[in-house]
Amino acid sequence: MHRDNPIGIFDSGIGGLTVAHAINKVLPNEKLIYFGDIQHLPYGNKSSNKILNYSEKIVDFLIKKKCKAIIIACNSASAISYKLLKKKVSSKCLLFNVIDPVVKEVINNKSIKNIGVIGTLATIKTDIYKTSIEKKRSDVNVFSLATPLLASLIEEDDNQLYKKGIIESYLSHKNLKNIDSLILGCTHYPMIQSKIATHYKKKIIILNTLKYIGYEVYMKLKTKNLLNSNNHNSPKHNFYVSDYTENFQKKTQLFFPTEIILKEVNIFS
Ligand code: DGL
Repeated sequence: MHRDNPIGIFDSGIGGLTVAHAINKVLPNEKLIYFGDIQHLPYGNKSSNKILNYSEKIVDFLIKKKCKAIIIACNSASAISYKLLKKKVSSKCLLFNVIDPVVKEVINNKSIKNIGVIGTLATIKTDIYKTSIEKKRSDVNVFSLATPLLASLIEEDDNQLYKKGIIESYLSHKNLKNIDSLILGCTHYPMIQSKIATHYKKKIIILNTLKYIGYEVYMKLKTKNLLNSNNHNSPKHNFYVSDYTENFQKKTQLFFPTEIILKEVNIFS
C-alpha cells in the first residue's frame, strides 16, 4: 500500500457516483478509479452468490490497478460481500463499506428512536441495518422496507415514471408509518432525497452515507499515513464500466464535469 496510489470505488451503476463525488470533495488530491458494473445492474434483485462473485472480481481488478483503498459504494454489495472480502484483502488494501458510517451516526444520535430503512431486496433481506443498530442501541426500533423498483427508476430518471407515484407508494407503507428518521440504504437514493423529503414534509431526519463516508475514509487514511502526498495537482480519475451506455456517460459527467472517458472492460470471463 503506497500513499500515492489511487482509491477504488465500485457500484452496479450510478449510485456509486454519489459516493465518488463525496469522496472527491473531502479528498480532492486523491486519484479515483471507478468501476460501474452496468452489465449486472440491478444488484439488488440478484442472489447473494452472484453479488459476492461480482464484488470479488471487481475488487481483484481494483487491486491490480494498485488501489490502496477500495470503497464498496453499494449497500447490496456492502451487506453481502464486505465481511468476506475484508478477510481476503486486508493485507493488500483498506476496504470500506457504505453501511457502517450511517450505523455509527444512528448509534450516536440520541434523538433517533424509530428509524426506517429503505433499500434493495438484497440489502433488506440481510437485516444488516437492524441487527447492527439494535446491537448497540436497544432503545431504537428499526423498521425495514425493500423498495426494489427505486434503483432502476433512478437509473432511468424519467419524469413520467416519477409521476406514477412509485416513491410515494413505497413511503406510505405501514412499516414506515411512525418513523422519526429514515436511512437511505442504497447509494442510488440520495438522488431522490428531495422527493423523499417532500413526501414527509421535511418532518423526519433523512440519513444517507454521503455525509459521513468522506470523513470516515479521510480519518482512516490519515491514521495509516496513507493520505496522498501530492497536494498541488488535480488528479485525473479513471472510469471503467462492464458495459458502455450513453446514459452512464451522461450521469458520470453530471458528477465529474471535466472530460470523462469511460472505458469498457471485460473482467468477468
Ligand atoms: N446502489 C446499489 C445499492 O446501494 C444498488 C442498486 C442496484 O443495483 O440494485 O444497493
